Amino acid sequence: MPRRFGLVGGTVVAEDGVHRADVLIDSGRIESVGRIPPSADVEKVDARGKIIIPGGVDVHTHMDTPFMGTVTSDDHASASRAAAVGGTTTYVDYAFQRAGERLPEVLARWAGRANGRSAIDFSFHLAVTSPYPGMVADMALVVADGVTSFKVFMAYKGLAMLDDGELFSILTESSRLGATLCVHAENGHVIDVLAERLVRDGRTGPLAHLLSRPPETEVEAVRRAIMLADLADAPLYFVHLSTAGAVAAVAEAQRAGRPVAGETCTHYLLLDADLYHQPGFEAAKYVVSPPLRTAEHREALWRGLREGILGVVSSDHCPFCMAGQKSLGAEDFRRIPNGAPGIEHRVSLLYGHGVRPGRLSLSRFVEVACTEPARRFGLYPTKGVIRRGADADLVVLDPEAASVVLARTMTQNCDYTPFERWHVPGRVEAVYLRGELIARRGRFVGRQDAGRFLVRRRA
Ligand code: URP
Ligand code: ZN
Ligand code: ZN
Repeated sequence: MPRRFGLVGGTVVAEDGVHRADVLIDSGRIESVGRIPPSADVEKVDARGKIIIPGGVDVHTHMDTPFMGTVTSDDHASASRAAAVGGTTTYVDYAFQRAGERLPEVLARWAGRANGRSAIDFSFHLAVTSPYPGMVADMALVVADGVTSFKVFMAYKGLAMLDDGELFSILTESSRLGATLCVHAENGHVIDVLAERLVRDGRTGPLAHLLSRPPETEVEAVRRAIMLADLADAPLYFVHLSTAGAVAAVAEAQRAGRPVAGETCTHYLLLDADLYHQPGFEAAKYVVSPPLRTAEHREALWRGLREGILGVVSSDHCPFCMAGQKSLGAEDFRRIPNGAPGIEHRVSLLYGHGVRPGRLSLSRFVEVACTEPARRFGLYPTKGVIRRGADADLVVLDPEAASVVLARTMTQNCDYTPFERWHVPGRVEAVYLRGELIARRGRFVGRQDAGRFLVRRRA
């Protein structure tokens, strides 16, 4: 039975500002944002004292993904429950091409893993790791199926890395198709030389991951990709930027009128490179690419978000357990699977450690966690916004409550979280997907198969 109800008396973060307002929901959509008269014959849910934001949109995840000799520990079922609990109602996952696989086959394989298993709405980007003759026609097929973004890697040599010619060709084609090209910008050649030298010197522990990927390896790749995009007359979107130099390069390109966009992730905003200096193998928890950086870089990322140079904060959710997965690299850091869990805590961390200390305004928080990711990837205004006609994907935040991040109690399927014991001001109280309550105070209460595949528009 379609439900008609109102969330009343909350502080609503809408596109035109932050207002005290009631949100009326009918049949999974937002019917109005304004005032529901007390006499109105409609079910009312009290939201006084609460903040109401759109459901989070996480546009960078890796569910059930074979990578670096293992498979990410969360599948679409477990990760989507974790997302729901944490206030994310839509994700866009990277479908990874296997060597020799045609793009429509990749898509079919990924859909086979996600369909009927996701508790929240989802879509895919297509990660091209192995270009082949005739791929251009297949790119068009994929875009016609609503997968309107591709990813390429400038690192992970021998696994996923493309050369500059391949990058240039895909830039040209994706632009011609009106698709978005997501670029992982690190200089894979230089990283491999540095890593080889470190191993030769006996530096085989996780700290060497940081040492093999100095900031310049990101900045050089960002600048090179911008020049190649310029040459191809193509837009591009940088994923998981981590350095001040990358923010400066993107800002420069934007000032010159180039269509260049940038994303960063929760961990680059909040975690310090000092974490790699822990004894033993503990630091493997933070082996992500690019690596964590120092305070100077974090400050530049926050500034980049405030000034609109960076538009999106994603989780890059790519979980591998310490036991049996990260441990693959116990003897050689190059074998530690790169990635960490993050989808569950992205929204609350950004609120608790972004908005509350004054690093982001409430409105800017909603833009970078919900609205801009939806806009960038062809989901707006159905997703990412509280306005009439949008899907009633809503999060009720209690600013007076708080939570503590613990691997023991989290929903993500991983044996650790990089944010263990972090105290987070504010708490996700309730989460609605198309008007259905799917999470309440840290507990998933939705349907495991409620998620729909979202056909995305071209950006
Ligand atoms: O360390 C990371 N980022 N792992 C996931 C794969 C990628 O590069 O996005
Ligand atoms: Zn990447
Ligand atoms: Zn990633």
